[in-house]
Amino acid sequence: MKPSISDVQEYLSLEALTTRIQTHQRYSEHRDDLDGTVRQAVSLSGDADLLDVGCGTGAFLRNLAERGHRGRLVGLDLSPAAVHALHDVAGVSAHLGTATDLPYDAGVFDVVTARHMLYHVPDVRRALAECRRVLGSEGVFAAVVNCSGATPRVSALLAEVVTSAGIDIPVVPNSRVHSDNLPEMIESTFGAVAVHRYDNALVFDRPEPVIAFAAANLSFYGVEPDSALRPELTRAIEAKVRAWFAAEVGPWRDPKGYVVCTARRS
Ligand SMILES: C[S@@+](CC[C@H](N)C(=O)[O-])C[C@H]1O[C@@H](n2cnc3c(N)ncnc32)[C@H](O)[C@@H]1O
Repeated sequence: MKPSISDVQEYLSLEALTTRIQTHQRYSEHRDDLDGTVRQAVSLSGDADLLDVGCGTGAFLRNLAERGHRGRLVGLDLSPAAVHALHDVAGVSAHLGTATDLPYDAGVFDVVTARHMLYHVPDVRRALAECRRVLGSEGVFAAVVNCSGATPRVSALLAEVVTSAGIDIPVVPNSRVHSDNLPEMIESTFGAVAVHRYDNALVFDRPEPVIAFAAANLSFYGVEPDSALRPELTRAIEAKVRAWFAAEVGPWRDPKGYVVCTARRS
């Protein structure tokens, strides 16, 4: 299976990803400290050589460099924009490539992370095998994916708006790989997996951030970033969200969560 066009196109610019990340940072019911959670999950030592697969905005690696991490920090991503985002960060190198064919020798990293990215990879088992291959003995792997069925209200809104416009909704990324099916895949690659679940919710007391968040997810519902239908669909999202806030007491609460799965190369 190839990545859908939307998955690839989506990250040619990091704008929508940044909106989604900021929404989770600002509107989560409980503080959403993914970086801290992952550092803790892998018991990250300052000397560890770490590869972040699908590094996106690069914020995780940048923050580690700023915290004085001494080990090698490497980001890899399919998107040139993601690689460029790290080009001037001292102590971090970034490479263009795919998770299913990592351009590194076997056994060279102490830690490999894959945060919120495996649901974009067509051959997840191959990506997991690659992550294992580049880990040294006793190296640690950590993957983060959403809980199945996360943000059902925004998902239903997007499905309604997109379907009304006659667009066929592809299988959205979170429906491909999620908390229910990833642990077994990791276990079959690494032999054992530990799973920690973090339940949370997005809570909005006004329409604007809901509209921005929903619009930032349109690609995953089959609407290309440069589609001529975007303005019309964004207006339809806005009308529905504003109507909801006018009719309901609020807030708009959307349950969500993620799992951090860790495994050791033994
Ligand atoms: C949702 S973003 C997550 C970014 C980052 N890991 C984070 O936690 O914020 C997914 C990232 O995975 C990248 N990606 C998607 N498919 C990939 C693949 N096959 N190999 C490497 N990176 C990929 C995308 O370009 C994007 O930057």
